[in-house]
Amino acid sequence: MAFTSYHFILFCALLLSISSYCIGQNSPQTKALILAVKKDSTTLQYITQIGQRTPLVPIKLTIHLGGQTLWVDCENGYVSSTYRPALCGSTQCTIAKVNTCGNCSTSAPKISCNNNACYNTPENPFIKTLYSGGEINEDVLSIQSTDGSNPGKFVKIPSFIFTCVPTFLTEGLASGVKGTVGLGRNRIALPSQLAEIFSFPRKFAVCLSSSTQSSGVIFFGDGMMLPKIDVSKDLIFTPLITNPFGTGSVPFLNEPSSEYFIGVKSIRVNGKTVTINKKLLGIDKRGDGGTKISTGTPYSILETSIYDVVTKAFIDELSNATRVAAVPPFETCFSSKSVGSTRVGPAVPTIDLVLQTTRVYWRIFGSNSMVKVSQDVICLGFVNGGIKPTTSIVIGGYQLEDNLLQFDLAKSTLGFSSSLLFHQTTCANFNFTTKA
Ligand SMILES: *[C@@H]1O[C@H](CO)[C@@H](O)[C@H](O)[C@H]1NC(C)=O
Ligand SMILES: *[C@@H]1O[C@H](CO)[C@@H](O)[C@H](O)[C@H]1NC(C)=O
Ligand SMILES: *[C@@H]1O[C@H](CO)[C@@H](O)[C@H](O)[C@H]1NC(C)=O
Repeated sequence: MAFTSYHFILFCALLLSISSYCIGQNSPQTKALILAVKKDSTTLQYITQIGQRTPLVPIKLTIHLGGQTLWVDCENGYVSSTYRPALCGSTQCTIAKVNTCGNCSTSAPKISCNNNACYNTPENPFIKTLYSGGEINEDVLSIQSTDGSNPGKFVKIPSFIFTCVPTFLTEGLASGVKGTVGLGRNRIALPSQLAEIFSFPRKFAVCLSSSTQSSGVIFFGDGMMLPKIDVSKDLIFTPLITNPFGTGSVPFLNEPSSEYFIGVKSIRVNGKTVTINKKLLGIDKRGDGGTKISTGTPYSILETSIYDVVTKAFIDELSNATRVAAVPPFETCFSSKSVGSTRVGPAVPTIDLVLQTTRVYWRIFGSNSMVKVSQDVICLGFVNGGIKPTTSIVIGGYQLEDNLLQFDLAKSTLGFSSSLLFHQTTCANFNFTTKA
């Protein structure tokens, strides 16, 4: 999957011939781009807004961290003078890694149903649905630049490759949301397309706010300054692992998963290692097992045996707190009055995801482990994933909030900050005021 500079030049030249200019060359001042991301209080999805089409329309999209494409509902209200289907055999189809060609059989050709077009398989993780007839298209996309500390001008990408889907695939998305924006490892996902077009480093950073009131931020490229505190200088790094199979999302495509896997080797609760079947932590020949990071689930999901030992150790270590009745989807709940508080949330045992060595770990503090379900009750925010889930550990949205995560696709590493509350900042602290 690594790009050589040769590939980039080729892509740029092709853009030149298609759209008469190459944005990367026209905008040498564009160093990085940003998306503002807000948590939806009803669905707990992380929502952003991107400009698309001609004339430009703001489109709300749910963030899908491991998603392979930006897909939108083209069946309902898609109007644009710059929409173009990608024709079979074109570079766009190659970048999208699809060879499936089709003709529109159900009706006269129209948007999202063209002849001699190529199709991929977009996914809605919230309803666990794949759709194999996602037509590959291009259209104008508009996204905001940044100097690293404030938002800058909106820049227009003339031919952004995306996928058209029918309205039904938007089921389960937050109100008003028209699709999802995939930030996966593959070439048509947003990070790689932006990096190629603007010729910046193939990396991006995600900082999700825990608040439904103030926005978190996603940076593409370098320069991820939070006001006065440059967390990026203080990250811990771990390799991103390639899962050779599509992990249930698109296993039949027989190509590496676009999702982000890391190598969790063990788990510690309050510094004490819990006993886990090591087989579950590795990725087997079918792509099952392992640990992925996903915004497709609001809370982390642990395979049953892992869930059981972690929960038991947590309860043992917090034995002086008062247990109260379960509050679904959580089973382990406490009276909040019986638990102290700290700068990093409720004073509960830490949970460490131990990575390549025992000294490299992602520490989860109370602010990311405990969910306040009512005035007096907090629950351990992990969900039982059953006995044979495809992936053994899914690190979900709540555990990512107020952590800076930097995905470096070129180096295949994840840089993570652990809780920013320790750095006395939060993911809501990007300054969204445009400089005069
Ligand atoms: C689409 O239609 C054209 C013209 O009728 C035909 O030549 C081509 O083989 C068809 N392609 C597919 C994939 O069915
Ligand atoms: C519970 O025990 C922990 C560790 O022993 C201690 O730090 C904490 O203050 C205790 N909490 C209460 C409410 O007694
Ligand atoms: C946010 O940025 C604006 C524009 O540069 C600046 O005037 C303002 O002081 C900044 N706010 C904070 C809290 O730094």
